[in-house]
Amino acid sequence: MRGYFGIGIEGVSKTGNMGNLFRSAHAFGAGFVFTIAPDPKVKIGTDTSSAYKNVPFFNFADLADFRLPHACQLVGVELTDDAVDLPAFHHPHSAAYVLGPELGSLSPGLLACCDHVVKIPTSFCVNVAIAGAIVMYDRMRMHGKFSRPVTTHGGAEEMSRHVRGGRFVRTPKAERQA
Ligand SMILES: C[S@@+](CC[C@H](N)C(=O)[O-])C[C@H]1O[C@@H](n2cnc3c(N)ncnc32)[C@H](O)[C@@H]1O
Repeated sequence: MRGYFGIGIEGVSKTGNMGNLFRSAHAFGAGFVFTIAPDPKVKIGTDTSSAYKNVPFFNFADLADFRLPHACQLVGVELTDDAVDLPAFHHPHSAAYVLGPELGSLSPGLLACCDHVVKIPTSFCVNVAIAGAIVMYDRMRMHGKFSRPVTTHGGAEEMSRHVRGGRFVRTPKAERQA
């Protein structure tokens, strides 16, 4: 896969959510993880995949302290009216995704720093670690080398073989597999 990504949370207030997100980040191959202005009661280093020992972790005290690698685009993940729907979003090759706190949203200051803002088209907010995992899965679907067949029993070519005279003709399974 080309490019890299990092993911983090602004103002995280629950250790479990941070550990959950960073475990998923480790599993999806994140290049780095971060927090910005975490609640002081949040404990670092608690996820069972030991993401902190395997993925570089940055803890930025506040927004003024926040830094990204050169040419890394910042993608805010927030359920706002003008955010781009995630399924229609083109993930940058070099990206950092930032999510908001459990009891709030991304701060106006952070939103102003974002190159893009994306939303998962749900009718209300989902858990922050779940939202992060969905974003990483969507990135993998776009940048990964996966292709999805058009039908459950084959690809577009097989489908067209069975369309004759503008009518879909169902071919027996044994004949399809021959
Ligand atoms: C549980 S939500 C925070 C509560 C939410 N602001 C509210 O008004 O209920 C925590 C974070 O998860 C992310 N999030 C949750 N659902 C989302 C969605 N559908 N689209 C984009 N981000 C989402 C955002 O980063 C959000 O700041």
